[in-house]
Amino acid sequence: MTSRPVLIATFNLGKLREFAGVAEAYGVTIAGVPGFSSLPPVIEDGATFEANARKKAEAYSLAAPGELVLADDSGLEIDALGGAPGVHSARYAAEEPHAATTNSEDEANCARVLRELRNIPPEKRAARFVCVLAAARDGQTLQVFRGTAEGTILDAPRGNNGFGYDPLFHFPQIGRTFAELSTTEKTRYSHRGAAFRMFLSWYGRQT
Ligand code: IMP
Repeated sequence: MTSRPVLIATFNLGKLREFAGVAEAYGVTIAGVPGFSSLPPVIEDGATFEANARKKAEAYSLAAPGELVLADDSGLEIDALGGAPGVHSARYAAEEPHAATTNSEDEANCARVLRELRNIPPEKRAARFVCVLAAARDGQTLQVFRGTAEGTILDAPRGNNGFGYDPLFHFPQIGRTFAELSTTEKTRYSHRGAAFRMFLSWYGRQT
């Protein structure tokens, strides 16, 4: 395995913590894309997680010639809401979630989900987290990886860890929400952990 760091294109500290924990266990170092905060933001207007992940990885890899750059797009799909918030997860409580511009606060996004599921009984609250990771070099996607985690949406938040919709997402396998898990525990079961382990196994096969 190469010892060069894998560059991760994200501002989200919750995601970075999760990537770092898993990478360490595989003996891989991760780092941010150099000058990331001054690069023009990529507009996440794709119709799918994969389209957005590719778009981000390809654009940001141009800022680090020759290096492997990883970007993820992720979100929550709720069956009773026809798959919403889906690719709009980060800005579900915004005035215009489709506008792909500003994100809304995690609490406001969770509140909107709770409002919309108000009359939905527990057995009809199936949902999944999805994470698609794209690995790109010099503007070209080399491979994509998709991880999912199946659970249900509670009618009130539980737990203080994690980020986003974690306090609402109950994971039946262990009877807790993702916000009741440590970062290490969460990545064992999470969509992001699954996708990242697929990436690491692919990465380990590269020269
Ligand atoms: P992205 O930065 O466009 O991938 O936005 C992902 C959004 O989906 C986040 O802002 C969260 O609202 C939600 N999300 C994705 N992964 C997770 C997770 O692991 N826990 C909780 N919420 C998540």
